Amino acid sequence: MARIFSGIKPSGSVHLGNLLGALRNWVSMQDENESVYCVVDLHALTLPQDPEELRASTLSLAQMLIAVGIDPDRSTLFIQSHVSEHTECAWLMECTASFGELRRMTQFKDKSDKADFVSGGLFTYPALQASDIILYDTDQVPVGEDQRQHVELTRDLTERFNNRYGETFVVPEAVIPPAGARVMDLQDPSSKMSKSEDSPQGSISLLDDERTIEKKIKRAVTDSEGEVIFDSTNKPGVSNLLSILGAATGQNPKDAGKGLSNYGELKGATAESVIEMLRPIQSRYYELVNDPSETNRLLMLGADKAREVASTTLDRAKNNLGLLPR
Ligand code: AMP
Ligand code: TRP
Repeated sequence: MARIFSGIKPSGSVHLGNLLGALRNWVSMQDENESVYCVVDLHALTLPQDPEELRASTLSLAQMLIAVGIDPDRSTLFIQSHVSEHTECAWLMECTASFGELRRMTQFKDKSDKADFVSGGLFTYPALQASDIILYDTDQVPVGEDQRQHVELTRDLTERFNNRYGETFVVPEAVIPPAGARVMDLQDPSSKMSKSEDSPQGSISLLDDERTIEKKIKRAVTDSEGEVIFDSTNKPGVSNLLSILGAATGQNPKDAGKGLSNYGELKGATAESVIEMLRPIQSRYYELVNDPSETNRLLMLGADKAREVASTTLDRAKNNLGLLPR
């Protein structure tokens, strides 16, 4: 059994791209692996946050993860700030990473170019991410392409640490879904679907109601040819709908359009299948929202499970480094 770790930041609503490109994968990986999934609230602090919003979005994301099928019994599901070993190990990783390595991270370059206030945390973010991963002796990290560089850095840091201080950490590898797993924006199929806050009509939130989903899909950009065929280069809008329909019905995108003779039918079938797919997720989500104490209980159990593994790994690292045992 491989150990899997992945993390997701509490920021805005979870959308269809997150579900089809990442979370569904997390759910299916639980079956054959020992998986650890984390709501990385500390990573959200690199940019200023409204405390009430952060609290609400952290809880809501945890509830959504359970609603999509992360099973807190089979997996370890927890909130990053509940396990203080993460920040402690982050210091060890900051002292293992070089300034130049951190400066080369493209996510830092992109975000610091845009931000008015660049926190020290934005710079050392990858050291915290490395800690998240290595505390659980992680073999595989399912992430999107944008996170490949951070996982590569984690590999370099673990190898360096192990060379200097003896075998301490497992060297993890990234597991990146195929390009087809990308869901594109309904209004601009050349860019990735992102948070509804950034593209209200182009993005489907997992909490959108039926009418909203129908409306957004009906208005999705297609082309003027009228033929339902999968060709992502020449027909990005239609192909995106076929990918969504395929993902929602468990078919290959090329086969998903069989029997659909025009774009109206394609959109109708896509809307219906997305609504069907989201219905049980929404109903489980609202059950959890109505009973926050149940979510809290599950998250406390998750944090306890996580801490047990994390503290053993951290003690090993501290000992190998030469920190005086208590
Ligand atoms: P983000 O919302 O960018 O923090 O991403 C959380 C996870 O969802 C990451 O693993 C991303 O790779 C994945 N993801 C985000 N947007 C999309 C998309 N449009 N299509 C597929 N996967 C996505
Ligand atoms: N940095 C990741 C993102 O922006 C989130 C993340 C934090 C993560 N720690 C992680 C992902 C550990 C995988 C493993 O999406």
